[in-house]
Amino acid sequence: MASPAGLLEILREKGTPLGPWGDAVASVPRDLFLPDEIEVGDEVVSRSTSPARWLEAAYSDVSVTTQVNDGRPTGPDEYRLPTSSSSQPSVMLEMLALLDVQATDRILELGSGTGLNAAWLAHRVGSDRVVSVEIDPVLAEQAAKNALAAGLCPFIVQGDGEQGRPVGAPCQRVIATYAVTAIPYAWVEQVAVPQGRIVAPWGGSFFPYCFAVLDVRDGGRAEGRFTGYPAFMRSRNLRPARGFLDGFLHHREAADATRTSLSPLRLAQDPDALFYAGLALPDAWHLPVPADDGSGEMTLWILADDRASWASADYTPDGRDYAVAQYGPRRLWDEAEAAYRTWEALGGPSRDRAGLSVTAHGQQAWLDTPEHGLSALTDAPRRRSRGG
Ligand SMILES: C[S@@+](CC[C@H](N)C(=O)[O-])C[C@H]1O[C@@H](n2cnc3c(N)ncnc32)[C@H](O)[C@@H]1O
Repeated sequence: MASPAGLLEILREKGTPLGPWGDAVASVPRDLFLPDEIEVGDEVVSRSTSPARWLEAAYSDVSVTTQVNDGRPTGPDEYRLPTSSSSQPSVMLEMLALLDVQATDRILELGSGTGLNAAWLAHRVGSDRVVSVEIDPVLAEQAAKNALAAGLCPFIVQGDGEQGRPVGAPCQRVIATYAVTAIPYAWVEQVAVPQGRIVAPWGGSFFPYCFAVLDVRDGGRAEGRFTGYPAFMRSRNLRPARGFLDGFLHHREAADATRTSLSPLRLAQDPDALFYAGLALPDAWHLPVPADDGSGEMTLWILADDRASWASADYTPDGRDYAVAQYGPRRLWDEAEAAYRTWEALGGPSRDRAGLSVTAHGQQAWLDTPEHGLSALTDAPRRRSRGG
């Protein structure tokens, strides 16, 4: 049944914890928040030509891309970077559970997108308690219209979420629905203590796939841990260029060839290892490309955001060591392997043992307690920039 009640049923069947949000899911029709053309995975679905498929997507537990390439016209062979979406409902609920919203809270959302999450929040705590900031003026205007069509009017405004809220009193909760490399201190300053909380997808280019859940304490300090495995788009104003693999590869014939004893598969398949390695490589992304010939082989590409350097490590199922190619001013595989070895030397901790403190002086990642900083990993970019 492609309806709000049908979506609620799907979420219940999946065992998604609904907490106090079931009523919002059932009362705020998601289809009012979606444009006529949407993308689900690689499929472009038009409401006018495939109305049943469109409605089915609207009421499925899937993320729906609502804008690519910042809304610029995109040719058939061009790379399509999703730049706005209606997030997967079960992931929205996971975030809202982490946010632990109380009925009297004032809430600041960064990244309005379609406006659906702001509308859920408004349904729960009242429209006058929700401010939502969207960087794209066209999307901000549309999100406000969408919410109004659903009978809700959270204050949705165009702006850069890095600055936090443009107006209003301090809030108790801040939720970002785009990924940040660093928690802006403005968010900490705008949260009321002692019960304030910030939830945001967090991480650099290598691994932006977890939520930071931070409690704001007296003295202007936010502290907390990491959880989850979400995939959110990056903050638009800090977004590194992305594109097809070919756009990052050059001088392949001039690459340095070496071998490594670290299995690229072991690194690529371990979210904990990737998380900690990501602290050392905030400015390079990784892309595992499995062979399509059934051989079980895989190439792990590591690609610098600035496109100057790249590396590849080739996994073969029966290999004892693995071929590595590296090109550019940086040796990206060596950096990733060094970070992996540091993580191993720490005992291979899981992600939930890591935490983050944010003060006016910046953010600091730690292991188990704030006293045990992870500078062995997080200082790697600084050492590199000094040529160390
Ligand atoms: C995953 S979508 C948001 C989903 C949305 N909460 C919803 O319910 O539909 C992320 C949004 O964040 C916006 N965004 C990215 N960077 C931003 C920034 N620095 N400030 C405000 N909005 C930003 C994008 O334009 C995009 O619309």
